[in-house]
Amino acid sequence: MILAHRKHVLVGIKFFPSADELSISLGFVEGVLVKTSRISGLYKVPPSDRLKIVAENTSLNDEEIEAIGKSGLSLDQADKMVENVVGLFQIPLGIATNFLIDGREVLIPMATEEPSVIAAASNGARMALAGGGFVTSSSKPVMRALIQVTGVDDPHGARLSVLARAEEIAARANEKDPMLVSYGGGVVGVEANVVNTRKGPMVVVHLLVDCRDAMGANAVNTMAEALAPFIEEITGGKVYLRIISNLADLRVARARAVFKAEEIGGPEVVDAIVLTSALAESDPYRAATHNKGIMNGVTAVTMAAGNDTRAIEAGAHSYAARGGAYRSLSIYEKNKDGDLVGSIELPVAVGTVGGATGVHPVARANMKILGLKSADDLGRVLVSVGLAQNFAALRALATEGIQRGHMSLHAKNVAVQAGAVGDQIEAVAAKMAAEKKINVDRAKELLRDMK
Ligand code: MEV
Repeated sequence: MILAHRKHVLVGIKFFPSADELSISLGFVEGVLVKTSRISGLYKVPPSDRLKIVAENTSLNDEEIEAIGKSGLSLDQADKMVENVVGLFQIPLGIATNFLIDGREVLIPMATEEPSVIAAASNGARMALAGGGFVTSSSKPVMRALIQVTGVDDPHGARLSVLARAEEIAARANEKDPMLVSYGGGVVGVEANVVNTRKGPMVVVHLLVDCRDAMGANAVNTMAEALAPFIEEITGGKVYLRIISNLADLRVARARAVFKAEEIGGPEVVDAIVLTSALAESDPYRAATHNKGIMNGVTAVTMAAGNDTRAIEAGAHSYAARGGAYRSLSIYEKNKDGDLVGSIELPVAVGTVGGATGVHPVARANMKILGLKSADDLGRVLVSVGLAQNFAALRALATEGIQRGHMSLHAKNVAVQAGAVGDQIEAVAAKMAAEKKINVDRAKELLRDMK
């Protein structure tokens, strides 16, 4: 039986939300409004003071502050997350500043091992401020589950048989997740395709499921598995795969930002970035690195939010290739005022309930820093960070190149590896960068000289 509120189960067509289904601004949980994301000079203070400043701006409680400060995942908790746990593997967590998204200031936790990423995101976000920051939109949180049917003599006929029973299929799937349905989610459409493979034609049934604030893999996989016998009955075939598709093309978020020419170095920089963008739109070799730059930001936030980074990456790259050739996920144009307009669209299969988000204490604290209401809001943050990150990389590439910024951070890492502490780190790194000789042996020599 189809539930009353779900009047239209889409049959055999793509579901695209109409304009009124797009929410228009980033929502924040009441009481955790970020006071400001424009914290200048955060990089100059020691990490523990930084955390205090972030806490003051986001109303983190003592427990959350401790979770972040002490990387608070216990071995016991880890042991419940994955198998054969022997320890914890830590990576740095930083905060990107200056983000203004749909008129709201947001501080962005980013977990990454790559130097320059957090600084670049903050820089990109700062340069978007004069143009009003990031403006986002999104589709509904609809994921696809695939059911592969093999051994059908009349695949095209079987396809129509599946579509004719779409409402029944949807009702049976919804019965598997009454909780999701009670939150307004559940099946919103059934598609069926005949796919020609080297082992002959197969019918592939797509179950389109509104997953609300869940990433949705568990929900849609359970539905797909439960439906398999019914699909076999309808088609007379044999079902093998029953699994989510990470090409989440029905669950996308988009962001747009105007970077004022005078903020980013003048009209030449605008033109240069448009040229770099044009190449990434047409050449897969450049598009791969362009998109890697986007994912530097997107993956770091996804990780910090305790979400599945591989799902997001599989979604992004397959979406980039959806037209048959691999393309950039963002585009830059010059508007009539001579300013740079960046746009990005990405699948965002993320959740704010379920998975590690609820289990990992640091992920929970990070969600509090973000202060967002829903998975949809997290998706909008991801695309905004992706655009900021991408813009910052392109600006550096179009002007001085990325190595100078990269090298000074690399030099700090090398200084630490050589045993530098406190003020020594900056001093040794600066000397090595000036000499253009950055290696552990040289850092050790410099440290010896200092002593
Ligand atoms: C490095 O991690 C990312 C960049 O290569 C991205 C790009 O080339 O656009 C700088």
